[in-house]
Amino acid sequence: MSKQQTRRQFLKKGVLAATALPLVGSGLMSMNSPLLSTKAVKPLKILILGGTSYLGPHQIAYALKRGHSVSTFTRGKTIPKIHPEVFKNVEQLIGDREYNLTVLENRQWDVVIDNSGRRVQWTKDTAQLLKDNVSMYMYTSSTGVYYPYLKGDLTEDTPLVLETPDHLSEDEKYEQDYGVMKANSELEAIRAFGKDRTIVIRPTYMLGPGDRTNRFLHWPLKLSQGGTTLVPGKKEDLVQYIDVRDVAEWFIRLAENKTSGIFNGVGPKSEQTILEFVKAGAKVFNKEINPILVDDYDFLKKQQVLYAIPWVMADKTHYGSARTSTKNALAGGIQYRSLEATFKDTLNWWQSDAVDPKRKAAYESNSNEFHNREQALLDLWKAYKK
Ligand SMILES: NC(=O)c1ccc[n+]([C@@H]2O[C@H](COP(=O)([O-])OP(=O)(O)OC[C@H]3O[C@@H](n4cnc5c(N)ncnc54)[C@H](OP(=O)(O)O)[C@@H]3O)[C@@H](O)[C@H]2O)c1
Repeated sequence: MSKQQTRRQFLKKGVLAATALPLVGSGLMSMNSPLLSTKAVKPLKILILGGTSYLGPHQIAYALKRGHSVSTFTRGKTIPKIHPEVFKNVEQLIGDREYNLTVLENRQWDVVIDNSGRRVQWTKDTAQLLKDNVSMYMYTSSTGVYYPYLKGDLTEDTPLVLETPDHLSEDEKYEQDYGVMKANSELEAIRAFGKDRTIVIRPTYMLGPGDRTNRFLHWPLKLSQGGTTLVPGKKEDLVQYIDVRDVAEWFIRLAENKTSGIFNGVGPKSEQTILEFVKAGAKVFNKEINPILVDDYDFLKKQQVLYAIPWVMADKTHYGSARTSTKNALAGGIQYRSLEATFKDTLNWWQSDAVDPKRKAAYESNSNEFHNREQALLDLWKAYKK
């Protein structure tokens, strides 16, 4: 929730960007999955297009524990920062989705997981190349395919926008382009592998250890301290989010079960407002808070507070962004960690030596970050209400 950030800058930095960061510390995390120690019935050969940034390392850690073997395909630029210890047991293939897929030729895998799809052509090329040598294609999409989020109860069969209209503002265009890219990439995967051999997962904001963005940090840091807490949004504003490990582990279980289809990767299980989320977070840390609901969208817009992930201002084009259906995900076997695990593990990770001290210092001193704006915003709000 930065002062000078437009939605486009936010998306560039957060949802879309994977940055290369140096490897520091052990990155050891507590993993609370009940299935973690269970081996799969049949070991799979899994290829991950990507695999070294955020979602990928969690998928690999779980897949290896389940007895599968994993190959990754990257440019070799992004250094794994979370679970770095697992990569010694991974075949690391080097190429570039833009122009060099040579190492993928004439190889066989049971499943390919396409995490790094950033262009439709990339997915088209890998899906076409691998369709005769791999049984299943799993495409990591996004709930961004539903943009503009004009209605609630967004189910997987909602018609998607496949072309960016001309009349949009720069910010709208940026957000729409991402959704259009993901929607068309899904279609390319299905075109090559067929519906019965394709699994598409559309995650919402993924929270948890290893996040390369700072967008969720405010909440565990603030709520572990307690005290007066600014809560942006209206009383009825909903939030949706998912622990990155819940998505990662679900991918592997869907691959094991060969459960084809399209699934929103969203939580929590039941509807939750931003106020309920904040109160639940404070409870995790056993802290007293005095929540101040700042519920005037005009005020928030004027102060450029458009989001505080998982809260996103539910204006016209974002009305449904936290109203995505969980029905299919639940039928498809998604399992949710407790909010306690997400908050505590994220905080422990942030405070561990897995996070570069320079990154921590930059976050703490950044005057645009919410924790450095909270008091001024509360003062302005008090004056505005008079
Ligand atoms: N974060 C969220 O909240 C969120 C929400 C919804 C959907 N998603 C989607 O989730 C997916 C997972 O993202 P992630 O970054 O966590 O995945 P990841 O699999 O952990 O890492 C992304 C990988 O892409 C590789 N890569 C980038 N450019 C490449 C190229 N030209 N050729 C080959 N490899 C390339 C990077 O390695 P090199 O740099 O070494 O090449 C890196 O390994 C993305 O598709 C994203 O859109 C994320």
